[in-house]
Amino acid sequence: MTDSEIEFFDMLAPEWDNNEVRSTPQRINHILDLISIDRGMDILDLGTGTGVLVPYLSQRVGVDGKIVGVDLSDGMLEIAKRKYVSLNNVEFLKIDFEEQIIPGNYDIVLLYSVYPHLHYPKDTIDWLFKINIKPGGKIIIAFPSDEKFINEIHHSRGADSDCLPGAYELSKTICGWGYDAKVVEDSEDAYVISICNGATGEL
Ligand SMILES: C[S@@+](CC[C@H](N)C(=O)[O-])C[C@H]1O[C@@H](n2cnc3c(N)ncnc32)[C@H](O)[C@@H]1O
Repeated sequence: MTDSEIEFFDMLAPEWDNNEVRSTPQRINHILDLISIDRGMDILDLGTGTGVLVPYLSQRVGVDGKIVGVDLSDGMLEIAKRKYVSLNNVEFLKIDFEEQIIPGNYDIVLLYSVYPHLHYPKDTIDWLFKINIKPGGKIIIAFPSDEKFINEIHHSRGADSDCLPGAYELSKTICGWGYDAKVVEDSEDAYVISICNGATGEL
């Protein structure tokens, strides 16, 4: 993540929760239902931001599970930590997840509203499967909208390079990297791709 990207997210942080109108409880719960988060699971929320997913994940995994939220923006992380200080199964780490090793092993790694910001998506997915993902685990790329909505936002901010391909196009690209990537939903309310290492894991 570049310094100007960090500054950008630091600047957005104070108003992030007021502006993030797509992440309604209904859409979040629908997406989390699709990806089967069970009690006792360990979940890594990469690019957690202000932690919009965190209370939902924390409740679903329960006291025997664990949520680790990772971000590099202090502005975002300070808000997330303040909001969820009382949740015992949640930890926040300041890490550049494309440049630094993330501690721990996880059942599910979430990239929620984050994928267009990756600089090295293939390398990042390779490292996550090599280091952080438990056998049978998966990476989920998700958005509470379709790609048109995301691309319009990035376009309006002059960030056309952060373009999100359609779900089927992206899953085909990821399959070309040697993974089993499946579109779980491709609608106005949920863009969800599940990635397993090889052909063994199913949803
Ligand atoms: C569009 S925001 C989404 C935040 C949150 N997932 C949500 O949906 O509200 C993307 C977040 O990813 C973080 N991010 C992007 N690239 C990152 C990286 N390489 N390492 C750590 N955080 C990163 C940014 O700081 C930002 O908080």
